[in-house]
Amino acid sequence: MLKKIMAGNWKMFKTREEASRTARELVVAVGENLPDDREVLIIPSFTALKEVNDVLSGQKNYFSGGQNFYPADEGAFTGEVSPLHLKDSGCSYALVGHSERRHVLGEEDDFLAEKVAYGLERQLKIIFCIGEKIEERKQDKVEEVLARQLEKGLKNIISSVSPHELVIAYEPVWAIGTGETAGSDDISQAHNFIRKKLIDIFEYGSDIRILYGGSVKPDNCAAIIGLDNVDGVLVGGASLNADSFSRIVLAGSKTDSSL
Ligand code: 13P
Repeated sequence: MLKKIMAGNWKMFKTREEASRTARELVVAVGENLPDDREVLIIPSFTALKEVNDVLSGQKNYFSGGQNFYPADEGAFTGEVSPLHLKDSGCSYALVGHSERRHVLGEEDDFLAEKVAYGLERQLKIIFCIGEKIEERKQDKVEEVLARQLEKGLKNIISSVSPHELVIAYEPVWAIGTGETAGSDDISQAHNFIRKKLIDIFEYGSDIRILYGGSVKPDNCAAIIGLDNVDGVLVGGASLNADSFSRIVLAGSKTDSSL
């Protein structure tokens, strides 16, 4: 069994100093209590990667990731960073297809498919994000949207991709940053559907981790990660504060102080 991933996406927040401080406070708050079956992933802005990695270096089961990259090693792509830059900054992971990249910055399925394949080729572990918008949910199109995003986004990778390298994050767009978490039944239904699709597509589809994201908080995290086919969480707002992120990291474990 691969470890559960407890990931914080810090989006476009925090100066280098703030990021470094939050990472340090998180490591201290979690202390020796990180369960063996979990890993912690911090995904800060590019500018703070070095500071965060300075804090995480030598910390067992802590990793960093990039929020985005362009599918080329180098070139005239003003404003972009490459997988090599991310690796050079100490990242092991990168997000592809986050809702804000799809819906605010207009990235489409084919471009995301290119990124997934390129990042994997460059030995980054890819967290490929998918999720439906509220109008798609209201029209009963959740499975149709998830199937399309998976089939198109993963079309360029070989069926024997290792479950270490690829992670899926289900983030319903309407639950991101809204305080409205999907209910357990909705999460289970979506994750079970994603699992089925992964098994159809990949030889090791049953082992690929599927994270949930969308208004995860310290008080709802234990219930969410206790569901079948939920192999971790991808947290925005509640990961910005070390105290709340540490409670998420430890949620439902023996040392969860709220149990
Ligand atoms: P929130 O946890 O703020 O809803 O954000 C979720 C998210 O987008 C993580 O990538």
